Parts: sequence; C-alpha cells; structure tokens
Amino acid sequence: MEWQTPWRFGIVYVLLSVLVASLHTSSGLSSELASGVSCNNLFQGSWVYDESYPLYDSASCPFVDPEFDCQRYGRPDKMYLKFKWNPNGCELPRFDGRDFLERWRGKKMMFVGDSISFNQWQSLACMLHAAVPNSNITYKKGTPSTITFEEYGVSVMFYRSTYLVDIVSESTGRVLKLDSIQSGSAWLGFDMLIFNTWHWWTHTGKSQPWDYVQDGAKIYKDMDRLVAFNKGLSTWANWVDSNINSTATKVFFQGISPTHYQGADWGEPKATNCYEQKQPLNGSSYPGGPVPAQSVVNSVLSAMSKPVYLLDITLLSQLRKDAHPSKYSGDHPGMDCSHWCLSGLPDTWNQILYAALI
Ligand SMILES: *[C@@H]1O[C@H](CO)[C@@H](O)[C@H](O)[C@H]1NC(C)=O
Ligand SMILES: *[C@@H]1O[C@H](CO)[C@@H](O)[C@H](O)[C@H]1NC(C)=O
Ligand SMILES: *[C@@H]1O[C@H](CO)[C@@H](O)[C@H](O)[C@H]1NC(C)=O
Repeated sequence: MEWQTPWRFGIVYVLLSVLVASLHTSSGLSSELASGVSCNNLFQGSWVYDESYPLYDSASCPFVDPEFDCQRYGRPDKMYLKFKWNPNGCELPRFDGRDFLERWRGKKMMFVGDSISFNQWQSLACMLHAAVPNSNITYKKGTPSTITFEEYGVSVMFYRSTYLVDIVSESTGRVLKLDSIQSGSAWLGFDMLIFNTWHWWTHTGKSQPWDYVQDGAKIYKDMDRLVAFNKGLSTWANWVDSNINSTATKVFFQGISPTHYQGADWGEPKATNCYEQKQPLNGSSYPGGPVPAQSVVNSVLSAMSKPVYLLDITLLSQLRKDAHPSKYSGDHPGMDCSHWCLSGLPDTWNQILYAALI
C-alpha cells in the first residue's frame, strides 16, 4: 500500500524524488514508475509535424472499427496522421509495444466507459499488434470485449458503460441512478483500469437513454447535467475508494475528450463541424477555453483517497480539430466530430499512458 501516497496523480506534477523514494517502500508495480520520468507536465505542449508518424498503418490492424477507419472510408488527406505531441520542455517517450507487453506479462487491463474508451482501447490494441504482428492474438467480442496477446498472457479489454452508474428499467421507465454502480462487480480483479464517462451526460431528446434521473430517494424528470455528472462521478469515486486495492490495481481516468462542432472555439465562427480540417491548431492554447466538465473531474478526483492518474487529454485534443472522422466514418451517419480517426489522436493518449507506466 505504501506507494499509494507517492502515486497520487490527481495533479500531474511527477516528482522524481518521490518516485525514487517509493522504490524503497514497495516492490513490483512501483518500480515500473521509477524510471524514464522526465516530464513535469505531459499535457502542456504543442503539436509538431513528424514524418515518422503514424505509429501504425490502420490497414494492417485487424481491430479497427469502421467508424474510426477514416482512410479506408475515403478520407482524402493524410497530413493529420503526421503530428507528434511535444510536451513543453521534454520528449514524450517512444512507445515500445514489446516493452509494454513484457512489463504487463500475465496481466489484465480494462478500459471502462463509452465509445471514447472504445476508441482508445482499439488504438492501444493496434499499437501493441504493430509491435508483435506475428504473435498469436485472440479477439473475443462481448461485454467485456477481450484482445489477448497469447505469448505474453496480456489481456486488453473493453467494458462498455456509458455513465459508469446504472440505468435501470422500472415500471415508470428507464431510470438513471446517480448513486448506484452495480456493474462495478465486473471491474474487480484487474491490474489496470482506465475509466471514462462524459459525452452521454449531455445527451437529450431521442439520444437520451433514460426517462428519469434518481438521486437518493428523489426522482426527477431532468437535472442540470453538470450537477448530475458530479453526483454520478462521485459515486464512481466512492466505488474506487472502497473497492480498489491500490497495490494490485492501477487506476486511470481518461479526461474529457472534446468535440469540434463550434468553429468559434477555434477562430472559424462560420464552421459548424470539423469537416475538411486538415491541420491542428498551432501553439499551446485553445481559444474556446476549458470544457466545464473538466472542473467536475478535477474536483471529484482531488477528493479521492485512492490514487487515480488523470490522463488529462482535453487541451491536447482540443488542438486537434483535424483528427475526427467527420464524414469518413464507415456507415455511421452524419458528421462525426466527437470520435477520432485511427491511427490518430488516441495513439497519443496511449503514448502518455505508457509514459505514466514506465
Ligand atoms: C500460435 O499458435 C499456433 C497454434 O496454437 C502455434 O502453432 C503457433 O506456433 C503460434 N505462433 C506463435 C508465433 O507462437
Ligand atoms: C492488496 O493487494 C496486494 C497485492 O496483490 C496483497 O498483497 C494485499 O494483501 C491486498 N490487500 C488487501 C487488503 O486485500
Ligand atoms: C502553423 O505553423 C506552421 C509551421 O510553422 C505554418 O506553416 C502554418 O501556416 C501555421 N498555421 C497557422 C494557422 O498559423
């Protein structure tokens, strides 16, 4: 349990000295954190053109879902594949898929969340596959879906849960239960868990999958969505605090993934989506400013007793107005400026995940 305090990553200032100290207090997982950390903040920086990208060719990855497979579905431009995230004052460690599989030999990790988690899970599977293309890999679809790298005994799984908390069908209709997290029992016993939820909290009308929202004994027709998100996420935080053994399980929270439907946010007031965006924004700041849900995430995580590493990917993703599928999204209808092409931006999220583990 001792590395619990050093590995307190709600804020991402990593003190090398603290990590070195953690070496003396425990073995196993913590030692993996003690090397290679040289960045103060992996989440501040800018995008630079890099000819060596992308990290894999989506055409040779057997896992990519049509909705993310932009090149296959006709995206004409390729420059969006060629950008590397450059944190201020340091270099993001190179992703080494074999090293990742060796470190996680015999272990199980699971992404839990909505289709943005699905996006990141597929990205990681493609990155690992690209490192060991001839190894035996099994892919079992379901809840959870499981991709296993047989020679390493590493399972990389995805459990779909749009809100993390429960939706229950009752006689009155479908109820979003802000203080109930029954599916949590399926998340126990993993070596690493990477959670995410946000996008569905904003859905209204036909795309809202519940009729009522319940908070304690009270049932409402609707609720301010940020307030509801705060309550639901706090339920998740309490679940982690009471159910996770931090010595056995590393917990990450994938921060808020931004959308690009309001051109005013990036200085093109007439744009209503991300179609034909071919380059990231220059520099390290986003004109539209932070997403309000980020402050909910920050406040809930900072009140937790167990260590959770926030993959604070919002700003770096906001700069990537060019990285969405837009209309090149398989048979997904409409203009998708929420998810991300693969290969593409989620590969960077996984590079940062890797950097946090080595
Ligand atoms: C994959 O599995 C098959 C059948 O179990 C085996 O013959 C083959 O050698 C394995 N491949 C590798 C690269 O280990
Ligand atoms: C937590 O996990 C560690 C490592 O698996 C184990 O040694 C320890 O007994 C566990 N603690 C509790 C309270 O279950
Ligand atoms: C961003 O920077 C690149 C390289 O310095 C430059 O070619 C491009 O025109 C810039 N784009 C904008 C929108 O300023």
